[in-house]
Amino acid sequence: MAAESKPQPKKWIMNAFAMAAPGHLAPGLWKHPQDQARNFDNLEYWLSLAKALEDGQFHGVFLADVLGLYDVYKGPQNKAPALAAAAQFPIFDPFLVISAMASVTKRLSFGITASTTYESPYALARKFSTLDHLTKGRVGWNVVTSYLESAAKSFGLDTQIPHDERYLIAEEFLEVFYKLLEGSWRDDAVVQDKETGQYTVPERVRNINHKGKHFSSVGPNTVHPSVQRTPFIFQAGSSGAGKNFATKHAEAMFLPGMTPEATKKIADSIREQAKVNGRDPSSLKLLAGILVIVDETDEKALQKYHDYLSYADFEGTAALFGGWTGHDLAKFDDDEDFKFSGPGAIQSMVSAWTATVPNSEDIKWTRRRVVQELAISGVCAKAIGGPKTVADQLQRWVDVAGVDGFNLSYAISPGSFEDMVKWLWPELKRRGVFWDGYEFETTRENYLADGKGPRLRSDHPGSRFTWNSDEELE
Ligand SMILES: Cc1cc2nc3c(=O)[nH]c(=O)nc-3n(C[C@H](O)[C@H](O)[C@H](O)COP(=O)(O)O)c2cc1C
Repeated sequence: MAAESKPQPKKWIMNAFAMAAPGHLAPGLWKHPQDQARNFDNLEYWLSLAKALEDGQFHGVFLADVLGLYDVYKGPQNKAPALAAAAQFPIFDPFLVISAMASVTKRLSFGITASTTYESPYALARKFSTLDHLTKGRVGWNVVTSYLESAAKSFGLDTQIPHDERYLIAEEFLEVFYKLLEGSWRDDAVVQDKETGQYTVPERVRNINHKGKHFSSVGPNTVHPSVQRTPFIFQAGSSGAGKNFATKHAEAMFLPGMTPEATKKIADSIREQAKVNGRDPSSLKLLAGILVIVDETDEKALQKYHDYLSYADFEGTAALFGGWTGHDLAKFDDDEDFKFSGPGAIQSMVSAWTATVPNSEDIKWTRRRVVQELAISGVCAKAIGGPKTVADQLQRWVDVAGVDGFNLSYAISPGSFEDMVKWLWPELKRRGVFWDGYEFETTRENYLADGKGPRLRSDHPGSRFTWNSDEELE
């Protein structure tokens, strides 16, 4: 009798999480002798990062972005802590490093954060179409609605648009975006016929004539259809309005939660809601954010973590925390124990750490201790140890939370990513959970891995706008 073939384990999505700033989630690490991210204002840094990540076979690199300063801590409107620590400031426009990175790579994907609150759909459709052409289909959009008051003020508003209203605006933004990218050019509009002298067949390009509550646009898109048309859509909404939006539009979601158990609840509810929104849950990939510090042994990795911690800037960390949560940690006493008091957001973080940090029952969760825990990874979980320890932890996230992969942040760049390639990948390969590498060119194909091509899937709301070659002319 022939031996039954063993089922193949699920292959994980491994995404590098970065920012076009001197640091991302670990303020102060720019002082570390091995850190290169402080050279973010030098194109060479981006080229070598792109090459290193593609050589290491990361699915993609994803650039987070904010549009203002974190000025809540010791505030209001105190710029000093974030500026001194370079806490996500200065920060570049992430779009502008991508074509250079694409020019030295062939398969690595690029996730770019852009805000529906401050961009215009017409201009953004143009930028993404351009990049999708230039990268041959390797771009994704992390759709955000933005959360910094400082950004609102610099974009000419008196204060931020209320949270849920931002998502209503985002909803209409995406409708315009899809109409432009999917629907304003028929697939066969560009013929480049040298005989007739016709580049584009005029009847195959149409206006979108969108007139809505927040946007109006005549169109068409300034750019002809690219490989993916719509960039691969990432999203991370976690509120009611955010999850409703994400489960309609996202093709990959970044999940909050510092333990696999907490994240499982979120993952389950997202998959349920995706179904309610008419989506096939398998075309919505779920990624957990995690900081990996890995070395040959547990001891060496732990030593490395403590070395990184000695460069961390706690003032900068408190500044980031203020921007994320709106809570100014300067307002709390030095010896207050957040296990028992303080805002709910902090208490729930502390209770997650109580479950994951060794000897936590002896720890008093003072302001300083809370900031120390946030210092290298922000509100993401950490996996620190030798290859086996880290692989076991990631495996728990996959088994318990049911995630499809990870958004891997760094302490130092590219060092943290290089450590993953050197120490962690061989262990993941041994377990059969590391993918076989870039089978395809485009982001959508590599992330969804369903063999259905580079365009939006039929369950996706943007797909109803697609103007295919076999459809009638207007
Ligand atoms: C991994 C991850 C990455 C994120 N990246 C950004 C970002 O780059 N820029 C941004 O403005 N918001 C970012 N966010 C915030 C989310 O877009 C979202 O606003 C947040 O998760 C809160 O959800 P809500 O908007 O439903 O309240 C990120 C969130 C997560 C979990």
